[in-house]
Amino acid sequence: MAAGKGTRLKSQIPKVLHEVGGKPLLEHVIRAAVRIVPVKDVYAIIGHEAERVRAATEHTGVNFVLQSEQRGTGHALMVAREALAGYDHVIVLSGDAPLITAETIVHLRNFHLEEQAAMALTADLDDPRRYGRVLRKNQRSAEVRAIVEERAASSTQKKIREINSGFYVFAVKELYDNIERLSTANAHREYYLTDMAEVLYKAQQRVVAFKTVDASEVLGGNTREELADIDEKMRLSKCRQLMADGVTVFYPATCVIDADVEIEPDTVIEPYVQLLGKTRIGGLCRIRSYCVIRDAEIEDGVSVLPGCVMDGARIGAGAVVGPYSRLRPGTEIGEGAHVGNFVETKKIKLGKGSKANHLTYLGDAEIGAGVNIGAGTITCNYDGVHKHKTVIDDGVFIGSDSTLVAPVRVGKGAYVGAASCITEDVPEDALAIGRARQVVKEGWAGEKRAARKK
Ligand code: UD1
Ligand code: CA
Repeated sequence: MAAGKGTRLKSQIPKVLHEVGGKPLLEHVIRAAVRIVPVKDVYAIIGHEAERVRAATEHTGVNFVLQSEQRGTGHALMVAREALAGYDHVIVLSGDAPLITAETIVHLRNFHLEEQAAMALTADLDDPRRYGRVLRKNQRSAEVRAIVEERAASSTQKKIREINSGFYVFAVKELYDNIERLSTANAHREYYLTDMAEVLYKAQQRVVAFKTVDASEVLGGNTREELADIDEKMRLSKCRQLMADGVTVFYPATCVIDADVEIEPDTVIEPYVQLLGKTRIGGLCRIRSYCVIRDAEIEDGVSVLPGCVMDGARIGAGAVVGPYSRLRPGTEIGEGAHVGNFVETKKIKLGKGSKANHLTYLGDAEIGAGVNIGAGTITCNYDGVHKHKTVIDDGVFIGSDSTLVAPVRVGKGAYVGAASCITEDVPEDALAIGRARQVVKEGWAGEKRAARKK
């Protein structure tokens, strides 16, 4: 179920697209679902901002059911009737509860089948506020006679600590034989799916609940505070997983690591690091504090010094990057190369062992091995309309404060004198100087001062 608006978030973005652990809530739920059933049997019920939700989740391959008017969780299932016609059982998950695990879903499904129930649900013992309460037939029974929503609960019922997690399995026939009995006589004037417990119980059907082991799986992102809470839980468990796999994470509570990030053993992640998207980091690397790294591929033994920002960059083994480097998409740093402070790169190859250590912009450039790029070098890659390429061959030395006006090529082993503006190709082994010759006017400053005094 993913059709709700998420009023409590006070947001323009539909609830299920709010992110935790670097991914929309709904995507986490879909991921858990496709571990249990093939994706062709997964349906997302969408409604509020349906096209936006569809566009954001289409890549997962699930089917969509449109609930154009959102009249409650019960109504969501009414709308799915046709889609579910060919199935005997349906597992119902909440698109806003991303901590659900495949293990819990399997447990719930098996429990439903073993109990030969019409409806099975999971119950938790946690802080019960805001959740529906589970009313058992009697204390020791697996059987449930109703679920009562918080707002409708009597003061005695509010004391019940057993809550409805919002995950269910239904026998499809029994569900749809009885779903028309749901009513909207409640605080929200909605069809509550939770009322199916009482409806089925009254129809002499078996409704059962079991208690989950980890109560936090129920958590839904209904409010910003809950989203933050879920995000923190996910990040921390990601860090724990990495540590279990041999990665050192200092001060894990300060690190933001997305679910799909992969890191090899003996790499050290210092405090306040963000590793996002599909970032992959080899072994024996050190990622120092305050780096924000997205979709990067970092090979073994790389040192990323404090304060680097990377997006879609590839870093060869043993390279050193930073502090304060900004590596933009298409950057490929060769093995053992150095990129230093305040160096920005975009769509470049920097060859093996090459160095660009200070205050430089390198864009649309192919730079060979063993090249030294002096401080303050700039590739002028943009003429206001088009981007052009700079080629710097192996072993070149670019003097500090040079500008290379692309398209331009500096041949193998050539030198560019400091502060040059290079507008023409430089042949192999040549020296190019592109600046005004120095002029010295003896005594000029003294004369100027003397003139001022008069
Ligand atoms: C629901 C349960 C509550 C349970 C809690 C657990 C009901 C009436 N209550 O409350 O007993 O303790 O989950 O988290 O079900 N949705 C639709 N279409 C709609 C309405 C909602 O698809 O018309 C979707 C929402 O997008 C959401 C899910 O259903 O993903 C649950 O709806 P939500 O409003 O969050 O229900 P809760 O108030 O959390
Ligand atoms: Ca919810």
